[in-house]
Amino acid sequence: MKQYMIKGGNPLVGDVIIAGAKNAALGLLAAATMADEMVLIDNLPDVDDINAMVDTIEESGATVSRMDRHKVAINGATTFSQTVDNAVVRKMRASYYLLGAMLGKYGHAQVALPGGCNIGSRPIDQHLKGFEALGATVDVNWGMVSVHAEKLTGAHIFFDVVSVGATINVMMAAALAEGKTVLENVAKEPHVVDVANLLNKMGANIKGAGTDVIRVQGVKKLHGTEYSVIPDQIEAGTFMVAAAATKGDVTVKNVIPKHLECISAKLREIGCEILEFDDAVRVIGKGRLKSSKIKTLPYPGFPTDMQPQIAVLLALSKGTSIVTESIFENRFKYADELLRMGASIQVEGNVAVIKGVEKLTGADVSAPDLRAGAALVIAGLTAVDYTHVDDIKYIMRGYEDFAEKLRSLGGQIAEVETEEEIERFKLKTRIG
Ligand code: UD1
Repeated sequence: MKQYMIKGGNPLVGDVIIAGAKNAALGLLAAATMADEMVLIDNLPDVDDINAMVDTIEESGATVSRMDRHKVAINGATTFSQTVDNAVVRKMRASYYLLGAMLGKYGHAQVALPGGCNIGSRPIDQHLKGFEALGATVDVNWGMVSVHAEKLTGAHIFFDVVSVGATINVMMAAALAEGKTVLENVAKEPHVVDVANLLNKMGANIKGAGTDVIRVQGVKKLHGTEYSVIPDQIEAGTFMVAAAATKGDVTVKNVIPKHLECISAKLREIGCEILEFDDAVRVIGKGRLKSSKIKTLPYPGFPTDMQPQIAVLLALSKGTSIVTESIFENRFKYADELLRMGASIQVEGNVAVIKGVEKLTGADVSAPDLRAGAALVIAGLTAVDYTHVDDIKYIMRGYEDFAEKLRSLGGQIAEVETEEEIERFKLKTRIG
């Protein structure tokens, strides 16, 4: 099984180019199937979740041409199946976006209940409530969700919780419903705006994405277009935190600094220097940072997907920090792993109390999920001696060329599988 072997201690220095946003791309790929013409999507990240979504769309009969590593053309005219189920789909959370896309286009769809990272209970009741309000009947049986509508009609829907997935899913279905839909208490994440922008380029009439209320005037059909995925806020944030944690100096390029403000503000508050440019952010880690209080919130609040990474930084900062996780209840599974590296973290329910230590020490740890896995890699990059991160399949779901990018910044990290590869890495890093 593939693992990362890391020798900590090198500050990360240099420039890193951020890939397209995985979570935006998942919605965009589903939306692309809604036209009977070609939709070209560029700046796709080459990560396992995206490749699985493209394969799934191809399996449903859509014509899919992979133009290069980051570009795919999708034509939904040839889609022959609205049933989406295979072993990969069952593990992938975002397959649920095909429910909204196909319900809007064909009036019916059947998709395996989503899996994804095990970070807590992840119900889809708000998605289903939205579909029902548009006139669909919903059945959940044998691990499959089926939605069916004779006709989709616009409706006024008030979501009970702010959900990225439900907002995007119901917005897609509403784009092809008859009449006007008003979605209230919606998610404002950059990827919600990105999917709305693509749908509008395909001929939809969606207003208000990025605010609390989205208004959709249904149209009869959508057409082909070309679109480029926005930069990945979380990949960028991960490199920003890695720069700070290793006391480095990294310019994170090809980003939208506005999307990173929630992260930049926190890093500044604890003592990092942050310089913002038009499409780049430079993070300079200066000695030992200060403690802080952090609570995860929907955008523009501090993202839950950055919680494990910033916790590593706070584990190395001066004083006691409090991290409150308010989105997913099971997102502190990395804490036990960090304890093995010498961190002092006490988790009570959805709150972690972190007492900063001067240094972490290398250990054998396991990635419990995607973002926690990235956090453990950051921990390893700061730690004394060698850290082994197991289960890196999670990390590969969402970070393109993670080890390569870290290496280009001076991080000592390698993907290893065999004892010989481990020994070779140790020999190389001992001398280097
Ligand atoms: C998306 C992201 C994920 C991120 C999360 C929050 C994708 C593919 N994944 O996940 O990386 O961590 O947003 O920013 O984009 N909820 C309900 N009922 C529902 C839907 C959600 O109660 O029908 C709850 C969830 O349990 C959670 C909260 O709402 O507590 C937010 O979840 P949601 O925004 O839907 O997350 P995802 O779209 O699954």
